[in-house]
Amino acid sequence: MAELKISEMRDLTRIERIGAHSHIRGLGLDSALEARAVSEGMVGQTSARKAAGVIVKMVQQGKIAGRAVLLAGQPGSGKTAIAMGMAKSLGQETPFAMLAGSELFSLEMSKTEALMQAFRKAIGVRIKEETEVIEGEVVEIQIDRPAVAGAASKTGKLTLKTTEMETVYDLGAKMIEALGKEKVQSGDVIAIDKTSGKITKLGRSFSRSRDYDAMGPQTKFVQCPDGELQKRKEIVHCVTLHEIDVINSRTQGFLALFTGDTGEIRAEVREQIDTKVAEWREEGKAEIVPGVLFIDEVHMLDIECFSFLNRALENDMAPILVVATNRGITTIRGTNYKSPHGIPIDFLDRLLIISTQPYTEEDIRKILDIRCQEEDVEMSEDAKVLLTKIGVDTSLRYAIHLITAAALACQKRNGKIVEMEDISRVYELFYDVKRSTQYLMEFQSQYMFNEVPAGEGDEDEANAMVS
Ligand SMILES: Nc1ncnc2c1ncn2[C@@H]1O[C@H](COP(=O)(O)OP(=O)(O)OP(=O)(O)O)[C@@H](O)[C@H]1O
Ligand SMILES: [Mg+2]
Repeated sequence: MAELKISEMRDLTRIERIGAHSHIRGLGLDSALEARAVSEGMVGQTSARKAAGVIVKMVQQGKIAGRAVLLAGQPGSGKTAIAMGMAKSLGQETPFAMLAGSELFSLEMSKTEALMQAFRKAIGVRIKEETEVIEGEVVEIQIDRPAVAGAASKTGKLTLKTTEMETVYDLGAKMIEALGKEKVQSGDVIAIDKTSGKITKLGRSFSRSRDYDAMGPQTKFVQCPDGELQKRKEIVHCVTLHEIDVINSRTQGFLALFTGDTGEIRAEVREQIDTKVAEWREEGKAEIVPGVLFIDEVHMLDIECFSFLNRALENDMAPILVVATNRGITTIRGTNYKSPHGIPIDFLDRLLIISTQPYTEEDIRKILDIRCQEEDVEMSEDAKVLLTKIGVDTSLRYAIHLITAAALACQKRNGKIVEMEDISRVYELFYDVKRSTQYLMEFQSQYMFNEVPAGEGDEDEANAMVS
């Protein structure tokens, strides 16, 4: 079975930019799961947040499989934000997979395969492995200069010690390279995995805390290890079922994890993996960590996807499914039937529904405050009041977008603090939905394909199309 070395790879994807939801750091609940008014970037929407918190608790206890939750509410009422908050408060160990309903239709694989992969991305396996490690403080690294420059076989010696013993190890070219890469020097405390040869720097020994010049700003000091140099250590890897699938599907191989180009994975591969994982579970080597699969814009799924979901949720390895939509009663994709949220009744019946409410003026003000901080924009009190008013009249999203634009306008006139004039300038510059619709109504005859007879393209429809 595959060697599993995925844990390091995760970190690469965690570089964050300022995105629409980057200010959300959790659900902002206290230990009794009550929502704090403003906390972890979250404002208001208390009952929905509280409900989301209950779901997170359910996931963390890991006992319940196959529950599904629907976040329903108007556009811009924080559904996606709450899902992000859930992801954050689940922690790194619990898998959280996310996709938008429409993504299923643009991949080079069948919808159900894409859904299956998404399901398996949301199920983690915690695998325990016992390995032998050598752990000690580096006393000396001595590398023999090869006689001919550039000769392939470098050799050397590494002296390691614990508080009780000291041993000299012979080094091959590979180890020398690894030591160089990690910039290991004498005085560092390191661990070497005996099977893989991987070197981990644990920190600098306290005994060297006086060598100031060797320290970076974040030098971590650790005790020199005691006891034997060789130890047995239990290492825990967390991977998702999907990652195991990809590594083991021979046609794709593990590079597919980087390109995302995984193609379809054969059912037999999955079956084998499920059996293997079940074996590991029985031997106590592995634990299943059911996570969360979040499908945004769930009204984009069609009737086949819903039927797949119905069935997939009944599997005992199913994750908790969270779906979100802003649609009211609308046609179920792939049929001529209408249904609440565009979701078939039988699937709707399996969902716990959390509804989000429109924001009050006060909430909007607080969210805008948080966004200003997040985007590092200083704004005068008047400007904030005006922006809040715009947010109430148009939409929260529009107001949020104006922050960056206004900051640029302010920069342009060499200002430091965003004033009312900047806000009104960008308000003139960029239209919100209402004004844009109005404009179109007035001038539609000058656009191409203006087939909509006057009066039909009413505001609601325009809203639905934009959101
Ligand atoms: N309670 C909240 N606290 C802080 N920020 C919020 C809150 N609710 C929404 N936001 C922010 O407001 C913006 C709009 O919210 P979000 O994208 O979550 O809306 P949505 O309900 O998913 O809308 P849609 O139905 O159009 O997808 C986002 O930038 C989001 O981070
Ligand atoms: Mg959303």
